[in-house]
Amino acid sequence: MSLFAFELGRKKELCFAELVAVLGKSRIVERNLDTAIFELDKFDPTELQDKLGGTIKIVEIFHDIPHRGSCKPLENDIISFISKKFPELFQNYEGKLPFALSFLSFKNPGEIDTRKLLNFSKKILKSLGINCRFVNKNFSNTKPSTIYKARVIEKGIDLCLIKGIRDLFIGESIAIQDIDSYSLRDYDKPKKDARVGMLPPKLAQVMINLAGQNTKTIYDPFCGTGTVLIESMLMGKQGIGSDLEPRMVEFSEINCAWAKEQFRMESPFKIFQKDAQSLTKKDLPEKIDAVVTEGYLGKPISKIPDAKYQEFAFKELSNLHSNWLRNIHELTPKTCKVVMCVTAYKVGNNLIHLPNFAQLAKQAGYRVTETYTYDRDDQIVARDIKVLEKI
Ligand SMILES: C[S@@+](CC[C@H](N)C(=O)[O-])C[C@H]1O[C@@H](n2cnc3c(N)ncnc32)[C@H](O)[C@@H]1O
Repeated sequence: MSLFAFELGRKKELCFAELVAVLGKSRIVERNLDTAIFELDKFDPTELQDKLGGTIKIVEIFHDIPHRGSCKPLENDIISFISKKFPELFQNYEGKLPFALSFLSFKNPGEIDTRKLLNFSKKILKSLGINCRFVNKNFSNTKPSTIYKARVIEKGIDLCLIKGIRDLFIGESIAIQDIDSYSLRDYDKPKKDARVGMLPPKLAQVMINLAGQNTKTIYDPFCGTGTVLIESMLMGKQGIGSDLEPRMVEFSEINCAWAKEQFRMESPFKIFQKDAQSLTKKDLPEKIDAVVTEGYLGKPISKIPDAKYQEFAFKELSNLHSNWLRNIHELTPKTCKVVMCVTAYKVGNNLIHLPNFAQLAKQAGYRVTETYTYDRDDQIVARDIKVLEKI
């Protein structure tokens, strides 16, 4: 077994929860500022990376040095490591290749002399006769998008220094998020609807992972443009969706057919029109392994809602959630989790959450086991991601 670091996306608690759901609690070594370290057997890095919506990149660790709080005194140890490791690391490389030095989990970016380390790396590589193109601009830290665009992982080396809780970990990136694929799934679907909003594909993936590891059939009763269905199919699962609006049913069908062709997927999908509050066994004859849905977030709003509006909207949403959760509880097996979004409003620096959701879920037969908030600076409506298990 070896150590691997997973660089967490923007909503770190949620991204970490996804990793724990996929890799298991017993494999965690530590969770530091930007990464989670796991001890794992060898795996296919691209395959794992592609299924993790919340991980930016995966780093294989090959060395660690205790740091006692600051990494500054370790510069000479890092330099000696570079001199020893580079001949082995670069032995199969020739021609001009990209090289990056990335720093993760450093609260204080000035803590390490990046210029000194980059210059030293350059010197060693020159002495080994290796012609490198340095990806770090002006001796500063790298951005994941730069590593991705320069194809550093395929063509060269992205050497990562990670400040752990007690150790400085040194390793090499072995996989990175496929930005182009996410952008295609996010923006190039044939049918989009700004009015209903769309779930980011990465968030849909995280939610599918939180719903369990052995799921084969995922159901989204508020499927909209089909984001959850497409991500389920990409993960090799069957996607079943329904929506109240015939127009959204058509959008989902067109988008799923497009994705199936675009990504050459075998997985089937099925979409039908129905109010999620009045589903019957006839609508869902299949065994549903998990319900994953963004759900209905309320009418689109363009200004911060006042207390009166919040009360009105939360009442409407509580009624809807209560009805559809009771309904779906009847139609799914005991092991079937529900992973859903619940509306929260951002008012100044505060988040106003839908009141008494746990009570509502309990009355519908569910226990809320996990809650994470997903918000963005430019959005008034935030999503509370809830994981529900049958009582
Ligand atoms: C926020 S959108 C879902 C967007 C979707 N996640 C996507 O990425 O495109 C909510 C959807 O719920 C649907 N909806 C609202 N009330 C419903 C109900 N009672 N039953 C089923 N669908 C409903 C709306 O038509 C809308 O398409």
